[in-house]
Amino acid sequence: MRIILVGYEGHMGHEVRASAARTPEAEIVMGVDPMIPEDTVECVRSFQACAAEADAVIDFSHHSLTRALLDFARTRGLPVVLATTGQTEEEKRLIEEAAGEIPVFLAANYSLGIAVLKDLVQRALALYPDAEVEILEEHHDRKLDAPSGTALALFGAVKEIRPEARAVTGRSGMGKRQPEDVGIHAVRMGGTVGKHSVMIGTQNETLTLTHQAWSRGVFADGSLKAARFLIGKGPGLYDMKDLLREE
Ligand SMILES: NC(=O)c1ccc[n+]([C@@H]2O[C@H](COP(=O)([O-])OP(=O)(O)OC[C@H]3O[C@@H](n4cnc5c(N)ncnc54)[C@H](O)[C@@H]3O)[C@@H](O)[C@H]2O)c1
Repeated sequence: MRIILVGYEGHMGHEVRASAARTPEAEIVMGVDPMIPEDTVECVRSFQACAAEADAVIDFSHHSLTRALLDFARTRGLPVVLATTGQTEEEKRLIEEAAGEIPVFLAANYSLGIAVLKDLVQRALALYPDAEVEILEEHHDRKLDAPSGTALALFGAVKEIRPEARAVTGRSGMGKRQPEDVGIHAVRMGGTVGKHSVMIGTQNETLTLTHQAWSRGVFADGSLKAARFLIGKGPGLYDMKDLLREE
């Protein structure tokens, strides 16, 4: 499986390279990273300069590259594993459009544990129809977007069960909590890889479901699994639920 890796020199870029080195069938054939000072044999600064033959693209760069990345993948007919977070509404629209032509995998979190957490949250909510729900996410101090894409995806899982749910971020000022509110709280500190908790509470008890990633390797391994999953698939938008069904 030959991979073009976008965001080659970033923290996650290094993790994907390490994960590919541990995976016999995976090979990073070229990197793309606009922030490097000059093109090298391993990595180029633009998609135009990337001529390598490949089976899939994995993107751990920045959401602002989404348009250029999708144009490149569509022109080459390559499946794309999109792992950046913080996409704008326009970028989300472009992703949907591209998925009509090529296979696109989109997940805010490539760890298996988060997919299981979403499932557990939905099952718990079915048992606690009136409970209050709050989401707490913690990340390293370099993270650009808040709340995390994973926290928003967890909110999406809540909303599937409770369509009336309303995300409340950065709560402050006067006014009490409304029943449909789901508070989303972001902590930024030190080197935390990623911790997500969903609190489901009544007046008498609180159930807290927590996932903690200890190493970024978990996201890298998951992105390679997603790339393997996409190869040979038809156009469409795929996510971790689809991957779990095949695991
Ligand atoms: N889906 C997941 O499971 C998952 C897990 C971890 C990180 N992420 C996401 O992956 C992305 C990269 O994370 P990271 O920790 O490796 O970040 P990082 O800052 O260490 O690396 C970002 C990489 O993208 C490149 N880049 C290109 N254009 C850029 C721009 N306009 N601004 C900033 N960087 C740009 C940088 O040169 C760098 O190589 C983020 O969007 C992050 O939220 C997703």
